[in-house]
Amino acid sequence: MTEIKQITLDKYFERDNGMPDRNQFKITTCKFDENQKMEKDQIMIKLEYVSVDPYLRARMNSKKTFVDPFKLHDPINSGCIGKVLKSTSDRFKEGDHVSGYFDWKEIQIVKVSKEILMADPNIAPLSAYLGICGMPGVTAYYGTVLIGKPKKGETLVVNAAAGVVGTTVGQIGKILGLRVVGICGSDEKAKSLINDFHFDSGLNYHSPTYAEDLKKACPNGIDIFYENVGGEVTDDIGQRAQYIVFEKRITMQGFLVFDYSDEDYKDAFQHLSKWLKEGKMIEKHVINNGFDQIIPSFIKIFETSNKNIGKVIIKL
Ligand SMILES: NC(=O)c1ccc[n+]([C@@H]2O[C@H](COP(=O)([O-])OP(=O)(O)OC[C@H]3O[C@@H](n4cnc5c(N)ncnc54)[C@H](OP(=O)(O)O)[C@@H]3O)[C@@H](O)[C@H]2O)c1
Repeated sequence: MTEIKQITLDKYFERDNGMPDRNQFKITTCKFDENQKMEKDQIMIKLEYVSVDPYLRARMNSKKTFVDPFKLHDPINSGCIGKVLKSTSDRFKEGDHVSGYFDWKEIQIVKVSKEILMADPNIAPLSAYLGICGMPGVTAYYGTVLIGKPKKGETLVVNAAAGVVGTTVGQIGKILGLRVVGICGSDEKAKSLINDFHFDSGLNYHSPTYAEDLKKACPNGIDIFYENVGGEVTDDIGQRAQYIVFEKRITMQGFLVFDYSDEDYKDAFQHLSKWLKEGKMIEKHVINNGFDQIIPSFIKIFETSNKNIGKVIIKL
């Protein structure tokens, strides 16, 4: 028997869409029998990387929203990379790395399904399977390419631009020949958008000159606005747009990345991993070390003053 840690959800938000709080979670230890008998098509995995993502907040309400709520007192579950310790599946062998939605539990047995994929470090770094080539990157790809339908030379504006979705949207935009403007919450992030991710402009929405800066950054107007988080930035752009919605036949469309799950995200993954390998894109991440860092890292992604650039990952 090995002693392992797990994190469970102990309390739902008191009001819808509240901000996560340390007291909602519990870290406990439990015994795990590594020699237990496994059924056919199962893998025993050791968690190596855990992704903390904004949508998890929606699973911490008692009511169903676009995702099902977590069950109280069960382990929380998110996109993770695990190393296979044992396998009764033909698809995976001991030592392989797999990506999937796994519990926040150091060692676990999971049933192999089509959602569990091989994470091959020869194709992309393991961390990228949770970021630029994983769910957030795939979101950026489908949103920009299929919904934005960009044409070379157009202007793309993205908010929450320094996060993993935003930086991927902007980089795809540059590959497709667009003028890319990113809006974010600090000068440091804005500089990184230009210097590291090669956006044409990076704007800090806290700056007193933000409105003028946005106008200057988009001399030909905005063709595509990739809306990531709502709030003041979106309200402001929406107000500017309302006069031209009819004239320019503006389309607004929401989507969920899961809308594309039937395609196994293959098309997006192939493009993103190829661009990453060719050096046309970069991945930047904040890696926090240790199981005890999962909860603080999750809470921090909702702080607008956070310094996170790129994907937040916890390495165990
Ligand atoms: N539709 C889908 O299927 C889908 C899939 C994945 C993600 N998403 C959404 O895409 C967005 C970005 O995801 P991500 O993984 O890139 O997130 P992320 O890397 O955690 O970045 C989020 C950024 O949003 C800004 N922010 C934080 N709290 C905010 C608030 N209360 N109001 C406004 N801005 C706030 C912060 O940047 P600044 O301080 O610089 O503004 C933060 O760094 C999230 O809203 C997520 O839910 C949607």
